[in-house]
Amino acid sequence: MQNKSIEISASCCLVGVKDPKRRLFDGLIALPEGTSYNSYLVFGNKKLALIDTVNPGFEKKLVRNINAVAKLKNLDYLIMNHAEPDHASAIPYIFLQNGKVKLVTSLMGGEMAKRFYNIPQERIMIVKDQERLDLGGKTLRFIEAPMLHWPETMFTYLEEEKVLFSCDFFGAHMSSAVFDNEAFNLEYHAQRYYGEIMMPFRPMAKRAMEKIADLPIAVIAPSHGPIYKDPPRILEQYKKWVVGETKKKVLLVYLSMWGSSKKMIEAMTKVLTEQKIEFVCYDLTASDIGDIAKDLVDARALVFAAPTVLGELHPVASFAANLVKTLKPPLKHAVFMSSCGWAGGAGKNFKEITAALSLDLVKELEIKGPPTAEDLEAVKSAGLALIGKLSAESEI
Ligand SMILES: Cc1cc2nc3c(=O)[nH]c(=O)nc-3n(C[C@H](O)[C@H](O)[C@H](O)COP(=O)(O)O)c2cc1C
Ligand SMILES: [Fe+2]
Ligand SMILES: [Fe+2]
Repeated sequence: MQNKSIEISASCCLVGVKDPKRRLFDGLIALPEGTSYNSYLVFGNKKLALIDTVNPGFEKKLVRNINAVAKLKNLDYLIMNHAEPDHASAIPYIFLQNGKVKLVTSLMGGEMAKRFYNIPQERIMIVKDQERLDLGGKTLRFIEAPMLHWPETMFTYLEEEKVLFSCDFFGAHMSSAVFDNEAFNLEYHAQRYYGEIMMPFRPMAKRAMEKIADLPIAVIAPSHGPIYKDPPRILEQYKKWVVGETKKKVLLVYLSMWGSSKKMIEAMTKVLTEQKIEFVCYDLTASDIGDIAKDLVDARALVFAAPTVLGELHPVASFAANLVKTLKPPLKHAVFMSSCGWAGGAGKNFKEITAALSLDLVKELEIKGPPTAEDLEAVKSAGLALIGKLSAESEI
């Protein structure tokens, strides 16, 4: 049974939908637990507002949920915090059934609403940073939070009840729980989501966190996953993540066709284990890249191992290296290890791909065929050199 209306504060209820079967987002991100598209109704004494809508295909369910607690034809404002289709694509459907509702959004949001959804100019109301909208006894305040993760993004704040509608920010792809205290493994999903969606925009995320630092917040109502009745639970995490605070932790990522690169990775994990260094290790042929994104959020070092194929880094490893680059993690150090048959080339390719990250490449090892005892000693030395660097550093 979909949540028809769940009260999240005195004058606000959840009318969004759950999508537990969805398995992929943006053609890239695996969703092990599906997701939800949270949409909220806010009741003032005079005006009724809807905050964000839902993914294509869920329009009718949204309208059913709205009509269970209010009348869609009485809707005065539709607040669009973000123009991405998972939150905005139901706008035309709502507008077709309600001829008076106004779309309330940022300047850039207005442009996108026209281009993406053919919303006519006269039905768009542009709001500026910190502008207020009176609903009669209830006030919505708009807080510009650009590039989280599109240029038009903003937050909406229900002043009287201290509810922050943060859209994608503070989200998690989960469908099982409505509130944070009911969610199993929430920290895992929230970190995974942050790594995939928000980490590339760390400077903007930091700015947004500073902007809301003094805002009294009783509830955080994001557009995906659980609603936080305990806001510090997610705020404390984000405070660390947006400044790029890392742990003394190593992320190992590898791909191996015939076991040579894998043997080097095994030698590396042996050193890390002996030296009691926290690490996580992913085999690219059997891992979910969402987990790699999650561990990139707080790992201080990356150990990457993969062979040369057709003169370059193995294409699957190349994809992973590109992903690491585009997610812009706060990594400091790296070790690259590779095996080739004759001329190699993987190392050159890895360095080109990750150049923009300015990583301290502690060691690059390219061997031919399976590793010899001497090669494995070299891996051990590289591991010890890496550990030396990690141990000398503070958290950031
Ligand atoms: C499809 C394929 C293409 C390859 N292309 C190259 C190449 O262009 N240059 C090279 O030096 N080795 C090449 N090799 C050899 C591998 O790099 C070598 O077997 C390596 O030791 C494999 O490491 P692994 O055991 O970690 O998979 C190729 C191997 C395969 C299977
Ligand atoms: Fe989005
Ligand atoms: Fe979203």
